[in-house]
Amino acid sequence: MVEVFAVASGKGGTGKTTTTLALGMALIEEYDVTVVDADTGMANVLFHAGLTGAETTLHDVLAGEAPVETAVYDRFGMDVVPCGTSLAGFREADPTRLREAVATLAENTDIILLDSPAALGSRSAVLPIVLADQLVVVLQPTVPSLSDGLKVQEYATTYGTDVAGILFNRVTENAAIDAVAEKAKQYFDGKMLATVPESEQVREARRNNEPLLAHAPTSEAGDAYREAALALSVGTGHSDAVADRFRSAVVPDEI
Ligand SMILES: Nc1ncnc2c1ncn2[C@@H]1O[C@H](COP(=O)(O)OP(=O)(O)OP(=O)(O)O)[C@@H](O)[C@H]1O
Ligand SMILES: [Mg+2]
Repeated sequence: MVEVFAVASGKGGTGKTTTTLALGMALIEEYDVTVVDADTGMANVLFHAGLTGAETTLHDVLAGEAPVETAVYDRFGMDVVPCGTSLAGFREADPTRLREAVATLAENTDIILLDSPAALGSRSAVLPIVLADQLVVVLQPTVPSLSDGLKVQEYATTYGTDVAGILFNRVTENAAIDAVAEKAKQYFDGKMLATVPESEQVREARRNNEPLLAHAPTSEAGDAYREAALALSVGTGHSDAVADRFRSAVVPDEI
């Protein structure tokens, strides 16, 4: 079986990369997990996972210069496919090759987490959301953040991607959640997966080039991510069927 989750948001900086790696580490208790940096224009998984020295990255794969297997690194119990950070690498990358790359990875893992770009401005930005089975929306507890996240949900569901749920990140006071929770329940599909507090340990983990659950496994933020991981429903799609679906996925012409 294999299930593919896109971790996305409307705006940048909501905590998608932090969340992708934290969910990934929480899920390795039960599953084989592969994390892919599908944010190919503004990649940063490599900084969060200690992979700045990676020789082959998703950019090489999307440029048709390397098979995806050569861009997989064993980090913190997960298989991690980092992406390069150069503009030249991004320019050379053909986003449509992500289909084949994900299809190949799907043959050999239980869960794929796609760290997805902010916003919906290009084919490379929307493809992870189109390809995924389910969407995890990372929000900050403000009305503008909800509004942006809703657009991503709308786009995803148009392409048949289900909404796993929403996750509030960088929460400093519960009053902030109370103010938006009703609206969130009303407008978003899926579950309220977790509320992750603003946390010095999250910042420290990033500075140490480690995922949160490696750096501070017993933190409050870490507990919230474990709770979110438990709340995810992992389907039983057969790997071969899922791989075929990726290979033949329609790439949107218009955003
Ligand atoms: N709960 C949190 N508490 C404190 N800092 C956080 C928290 N979540 C994320 N951050 C910090 O905020 C910054 C942005 O987080 P992250 O890189 O995960 O966001 P992103 O959505 O992937 O950003 P981008 O859109 O640029 O890819 C990082 O420096 C990260 O350490
Ligand atoms: Mg990111």
